[in-house]
Amino acid sequence: MSTPSDATPRKSSNAGRYFFMLLFGLVIGAIGTVMVIRSWQARQDHFPDSVMTVQAWHMGQLKKNIEQNRCAATDIIPNLKTLRQMADDIEPAFGEDAKDERFVKHAANYRAAVDKALSSPPLSCESLKATTGDIGAQCKACHDDFKKS
Ligand code: HEC
Repeated sequence: MSTPSDATPRKSSNAGRYFFMLLFGLVIGAIGTVMVIRSWQARQDHFPDSVMTVQAWHMGQLKKNIEQNRCAATDIIPNLKTLRQMADDIEPAFGEDAKDERFVKHAANYRAAVDKALSSPPLSCESLKATTGDIGAQCKACHDDFKKS
C-alpha cells in the first residue's frame, strides 16, 4: 500500500515538470515566431527607400555625365529609362502616402518630366543640365510635401 502511494506523487510531479517544459517551449517558440515576423515586416519597409536610392543613383550618374562631359545618347538614355521604369514603382512602394491624391499627382508630374526627356533626349551636356534640372524639380516638389526628414 505504501509503495504505490509513494510512487504516485513523484509521477505526477514529473508530469508537471514535463508539462511546464512543454509550455515553456511553446512560449519561447511563440516569442521567436513573433520576432521573425517582426524582422520580416521591418525588411519589407525598405521598399520605399530602395526605390528612392536607385532613383538617386541614376540621377547621380546623369550629373556625373555632365561633369565628365559624356552626354551622348548612349550615356544618357539607359539612366533615363531606368528612372522611368522605376517611377512606376513609387506608388506601390509608398502604400500609405500613395493614398493621398497630391502624392499621386507628384508621381505623375515626375513621370511626365522623365517621359518628356525620353521623347526628345538631350543631345548635349548643356541640354542634359536643363533636363536633370526639370526632373530634379519634380523630385523636390514631392519631397517638400511628403519627405519627413
Ligand atoms: C511622388 C513622390 C516622390 C518623388 C517623385 C520622388 N521622391 Fe524621393 N522620397 C519620397 C518620400 C516620401 C521619401 C521619404 C521616404 C522615407 O523616409 O521613407 C523620399 C526619400 C528619398 C531619398 C532618401 C531615401 C532614404 O534612404 O531614406 C532619396 C535619396 C530620394 N528620395 C531621392 C529621390 C530622387 C533623386 C527623385 C527624383 C529622381 C525622387 N526621390 C523622387 C517621395 C518622392
